[in-house]
Amino acid sequence: MTYEFIQTEVLGEGPLKTGVIRLHRPKQLNALCDGLMDDLGHALHAFDTDDGIGCIVLTGSEKAFAAGADIAAMVDYTYMQVFMSGYISRNWEAMASVQKPVIGAVAGFALGGGCEVAMMCDMLIAADNAKFGQPEIKIGMIPGAGGTQRLPRTVGKALAMDLALTGRMIGAEEALRAGLVSRVVAPEQLMPEALAMAEQINGMSQSVARLMKQCVNEAFESPLASGLRLERRVFHSLFGTHDQHEGMVAFLEKRKPEFKHR
Ligand code: CAA
Repeated sequence: MTYEFIQTEVLGEGPLKTGVIRLHRPKQLNALCDGLMDDLGHALHAFDTDDGIGCIVLTGSEKAFAAGADIAAMVDYTYMQVFMSGYISRNWEAMASVQKPVIGAVAGFALGGGCEVAMMCDMLIAADNAKFGQPEIKIGMIPGAGGTQRLPRTVGKALAMDLALTGRMIGAEEALRAGLVSRVVAPEQLMPEALAMAEQINGMSQSVARLMKQCVNEAFESPLASGLRLERRVFHSLFGTHDQHEGMVAFLEKRKPEFKHR
């Protein structure tokens, strides 16, 4: 499948591969137009339903992961146009239904909608030139794809308010300290690091990886008590699987487990 605004490839050494999606609208710093979001949703679904793929890596260019929603496209929208057509709602939320782990590999600008799409990933690795921010206030707007909700849940209210109200950007090291990203590497190490992380996850039980992802994401969605209930239910249910028994036996026998993903 070829796309207009993204590039995809399948990489990896093991039996399960990694699906790589690269946002590719270079002249506009990967500004997120409708066509790009349609392409992204399609590619996410295609990799998610491909049995040969374990993890998905989402990245941009060295200069920009994405500089936000497409301001040129939005400038003349009216309230009724965006409301009636479900702007954002109609094609920005594909990531929420992806079962496989999605690793965001961010270099350069991740601003506005770009920061929001990055935060939709399950985890983020940043190149040391990455810059994150919600600068919508500078163009008389607020974030529209989760920025006011995911950012405070991720970095806390103080920093989220600071970024959203001043529109300032933070670099990769500050993003690491704030818990927005889990690793910072040199730009040339970004994809090798993301692919190595994906390869490691591809070697695990895929059924466990997906349930793990659901449980961790639940921490963002629900009060502690119901999140704990879900975790306990999944924990108990895994005692009915091949991979739990194989994983524990392999540990005791000091050998590598042979997971069957069931
Ligand atoms: N939409 C459309 N075009 C964009 C864009 C965007 N979000 N960001 C950059 N571009 C375009 C620029 O217009 C420019 O195009 P031309 O060459 O045709 O003039 C090209 O990309 C390169 O950009 P700059 O010349 O500005 O590059 P720079 O290196 O000087 O600055 C930047 C980079 C700081 C990222 C700057 O481009 C910028 O501030 N971009 C806008 C960031 C922003 O406000 N994002 C939020 C958008 S609103 C949103 O995302 C809403 C939401 O929550 C869903």
